[in-house]
Amino acid sequence: MAEPLTAETTVGVLGAGTMGRGIAQVAATYGHPVLLYDTNTKVLHEARAHLEKILARQVEKGRMAPGEEAAILGRITFLSDEPEPLAACGLVIEAIVEDLAVKQDVFSRLDRLVAEDALLATNTSSLSVTAIAAACDRPERVLGLHFFNPAPLMPLVEVVPGVATSEEALARARALVDAWGKTTVLARDTPGFIVNRVARPFYGEALRILEEGLADVPTIDWAMREIGGFRMGPFELMDLIGNDVNYKVTETVWTAFFYEPRYRPSFTQKRMVEAGRLGRKTKRGYYDYREGATNPEPVTSPALGKTIFQRILAMLINEAVDAVFWRVAAPADIDLAMTKGVNYPKGLLHWADELGLKTVLGWLEALREEYDEERYRPSPLLRRMLRRGERFFDEGT
Ligand code: NAI
Repeated sequence: MAEPLTAETTVGVLGAGTMGRGIAQVAATYGHPVLLYDTNTKVLHEARAHLEKILARQVEKGRMAPGEEAAILGRITFLSDEPEPLAACGLVIEAIVEDLAVKQDVFSRLDRLVAEDALLATNTSSLSVTAIAAACDRPERVLGLHFFNPAPLMPLVEVVPGVATSEEALARARALVDAWGKTTVLARDTPGFIVNRVARPFYGEALRILEEGLADVPTIDWAMREIGGFRMGPFELMDLIGNDVNYKVTETVWTAFFYEPRYRPSFTQKRMVEAGRLGRKTKRGYYDYREGATNPEPVTSPALGKTIFQRILAMLINEAVDAVFWRVAAPADIDLAMTKGVNYPKGLLHWADELGLKTVLGWLEALREEYDEERYRPSPLLRRMLRRGERFFDEGT
């Protein structure tokens, strides 16, 4: 039995981009010596400057004692030449480019480099953990640790065993990430894991409502915010994430699911990407962010708002129920994932219990009746639980 990982364990982070630098910050904050490796020296310099700024701000805001920022930074070694020093790591978390062939090459080299009891994790959002692990002689020590952006702030980490991952490797990695104060949930190695799968209708159904001409962008956002209690509407959120990034996730999930029609991307979103209207980062997306620009006001009709909200929520709940049906994760983990990973106001399965499964099924059946499309097929689990008079959680929990 290998030793548990402790604060003395050297943590390697591959890739110093958006995710890698954040993960390095988390590990160093919890006392680990960290080796942050990137093939691009410019990115490494940017990562250091970024971390200096972020940590200094923590001190300014009184969230961190003076001197602590220097201690955290001092624990991070920035590496770009040879990866050999990574041999000292007890855990390596990979956050490089999302390309299977590149990741497999890196993992096969890491596998030969690190000690026998070291763990190797990938932060992939959409590739198969099993396929990445298959490049290693010891796939049993490889797993997915899927952080959310920004990694130091977002509490959720999806822990994903591949087909060959050992229980021991899974338990050791999970215990460490829990010790970093993160909320871990266990997800099966299926496309999108929990969050990127269950959240698809938030965007997809909103786009469909727009394309059908039932409501415009600000009205759909208003309905989800004001009636649904979501922090941001779907279009505001897509503009924040970047329409290119959001489109890519949708397309990847759709293809990885063998072209499941429920996940089919939308032309509206594709055209936005083609037009370079990527959202806030290009100052134009569904909204205009240029200085002095004005955006249309929502139509604040309660009846229309309720129709929009119920339709999107029904699709989200159906997706969450289907994830339970296909044993992607346990109900409690699915609710934790959506509240901690994407800040939903309530867990979708708690929401289903609260509304009553009969109500949710009724909403879905009405959509199925109207459109006669596979997209609106209620999950078999919804019908089964209703027949048996079951709920997802005990009342009051
Ligand atoms: P990024 O493009 O910001 O950073 C990737 C970095 O990896 C670059 O700096 C690049 O120079 C470096 N790199 C490429 N090949 C390398 C190699 N062979 N060895 C060492 N460094 C190498 O990418 P980002 O957004 O940080 O994503 C990284 C991974 O995390 C991807 O797998 C992505 O799917 C996943 N992810 C991204 C999230 C996000 O919101 N950006 C959220 C969760 C996961």
